[in-house]
Amino acid sequence: MQDKSINILGIETSCDETAAAVVADGRIVKSSVIASQTRLHEKYGGVVPEIASRAHIEKIYPVIKEAMAQADVAKDDIDAIAVANQPGLTIALIVGVTAAKTLSFAWEKPLIAINHLHAHLQSAMLSEDDLQLPAVALIVSGGHTCLYDYHSPLEPELLGSTIDDAAGEAFDKVATILKLPYPGGPNIEKAAEKGNPDAIKFPRSMLGRDSLDFSFSGIKTAVLYYCRGQNMKGENKVDSMTPRQIADIAASFQAAVIDVLVKKTQRAAEKIGARTILLGGGVAANNQLRIALQKMCDSDVPPKKLLVAPKHYCTDNAVMVASLAYYKFKAGLFADLTLEPKATG
Ligand code: KG4
Ligand code: ZN
Repeated sequence: MQDKSINILGIETSCDETAAAVVADGRIVKSSVIASQTRLHEKYGGVVPEIASRAHIEKIYPVIKEAMAQADVAKDDIDAIAVANQPGLTIALIVGVTAAKTLSFAWEKPLIAINHLHAHLQSAMLSEDDLQLPAVALIVSGGHTCLYDYHSPLEPELLGSTIDDAAGEAFDKVATILKLPYPGGPNIEKAAEKGNPDAIKFPRSMLGRDSLDFSFSGIKTAVLYYCRGQNMKGENKVDSMTPRQIADIAASFQAAVIDVLVKKTQRAAEKIGARTILLGGGVAANNQLRIALQKMCDSDVPPKKLLVAPKHYCTDNAVMVASLAYYKFKAGLFADLTLEPKATG
């Protein structure tokens, strides 16, 4: 007789998406519900933590209920409740953590704490069952840019991370400078499609020769100076620029960021002799980044295998939380009702 499958309810509220999902055996997505707050934050040009928290409180119950309904499961079919408890905005995380603890207590189900960044990596692993090690994983999101030595879903070892802005944050800030709509990343990508990536030579910060850390604040400032003059003394030229000029800045900025991401990933791969590269996080939805990393993997000797999260699981979602939780469930790694949200991680 076949073993019963393990159904996990995953909950995600680390930033500006309220999400819940039911995933069986870490692979079979039974439901995925996401209430996006983009509309609430767009007029501020970024996520406002208090607004995010309040919207999570409003949406968390209907989103969980919908995830259970879409999966066609009742509480008795659920084996564990998983929640992203770090890193993220504490007042946003606390909503998901409180909901998960409440359900765990009321339904008498084990509670599993998930690191949001490790969950992003899991998105790239959803349809892979033959991971060739060693593997380097690159996470590029709105809050983080990290390289890992990826041994297993439960043991990613940090190799390097950003010392200032995250890659997604740089996309969002440059979009604001160029007066493109929020969220910045997808709109920079769209504008860049009509631009020349070689039009402007923006700086590529590689830090030390062996460094696996990132720095994106310099390129953001370079774009700002390009548009406003050195030391911000000139007038803002963006209003008088043609769409073609804006497109050239977007394309040149995007090319510079991708260049750094690819070169650093290659550096990390060389260091650990990687056979596989994993890519996840919101910026992983960027087509040019996906193409550039694939090109790097294909041209390396021997070629490397690139595992990329499907686009709809690059940005924040709860499938990645429930999927990673399956491995913690099997390893018996449970949390208890003292679980707290943590901003870092
Ligand atoms: O992973 P995510 O949804 O949230 C965090 O954990 O931060 O990532 C959101 C980030 C935002 O900065 C957004 O602008 C960026 O991912 N992003 C993109 C694209 N789609 C989303 N950046 C570049 N190109 C895209 N197509
Ligand atoms: Zn994220």
